[in-house]
Amino acid sequence: MPRSPEAARPLAVRIVRRLPYAIPAADWFHAWRREHERSARNLTRKNTLRAYNRVYGSDRWLAEYLGPERLKFYEQVAERCAPLAPRRVIDVGCGTGHLLRFLVDRLPANPELVVGIDHSPAGIQRARAQLPAGHWLVGDLYRLPPEEDRFDLVLCTEVLEHVREPARAVEILCGLCAPGGRVAITVPDGAEDSWPGHVNFWDEDELRAFLAPHGLVGIDRIQGGAVLLAWLAPEQETAIRPESIAQ
Ligand SMILES: C[S@@+](CC[C@H](N)C(=O)[O-])C[C@H]1O[C@@H](n2cnc3c(N)ncnc32)[C@H](O)[C@@H]1O
Repeated sequence: MPRSPEAARPLAVRIVRRLPYAIPAADWFHAWRREHERSARNLTRKNTLRAYNRVYGSDRWLAEYLGPERLKFYEQVAERCAPLAPRRVIDVGCGTGHLLRFLVDRLPANPELVVGIDHSPAGIQRARAQLPAGHWLVGDLYRLPPEEDRFDLVLCTEVLEHVREPARAVEILCGLCAPGGRVAITVPDGAEDSWPGHVNFWDEDELRAFLAPHGLVGIDRIQGGAVLLAWLAPEQETAIRPESIAQ
């Protein structure tokens, strides 16, 4: 088969001849990328560690992420948890540590132990600045180091909707809870939520059924009803057990 005149040209010549097309394409790609990554919301919809690192690591994106709605959310969770007056508290998937700071600010006395864990180093760096007295650990919640410590309050807010094995995550949270303690979990109401950055969706009934085997004691609604706040008492007789939950 005869070769086309283009194919017969040396490679370097062929590349140079295409440059006038390649440069606008590269410009277009960079413009698209800038636009696409212009908001923290666009970045976090990727639901990757890299995306959270980038948001937590940038003052501009973090300011957007920590908008008035999210700060109000921390306030509402902290206000509901403060009456428990936990002496030992852990936040799993703590992000920037704001929730623990809001909680500690509302407690009558400084807790004995405050721990935050997140797999994002940039989040943990922010958290250390928020509350230097806390113990902040970079780590995967599925690979926590063997812990002697048990906590009166185990927090896990806006995390379970992001993880691939939520049932295993709940077992881990319950394992961190001291006898008589509480686990507080929040997720968006799956009846309303369809955000692409989430991989799990529970409406209130589904969340009740999902958490019942783990000692669910109740579900509150916060953020005008958009967020479900579930309370577990994994090691208490008073916990609602699956058989006592109306189907
Ligand atoms: C939507 S953010 C919520 C952060 C914080 N709890 C809050 O309420 O603002 C989800 C967090 O979960 C963390 N995360 C997700 N998967 C994790 C894992 N396997 N181990 C530890 N942290 C994880 C992310 O880094 C991110 O900080």
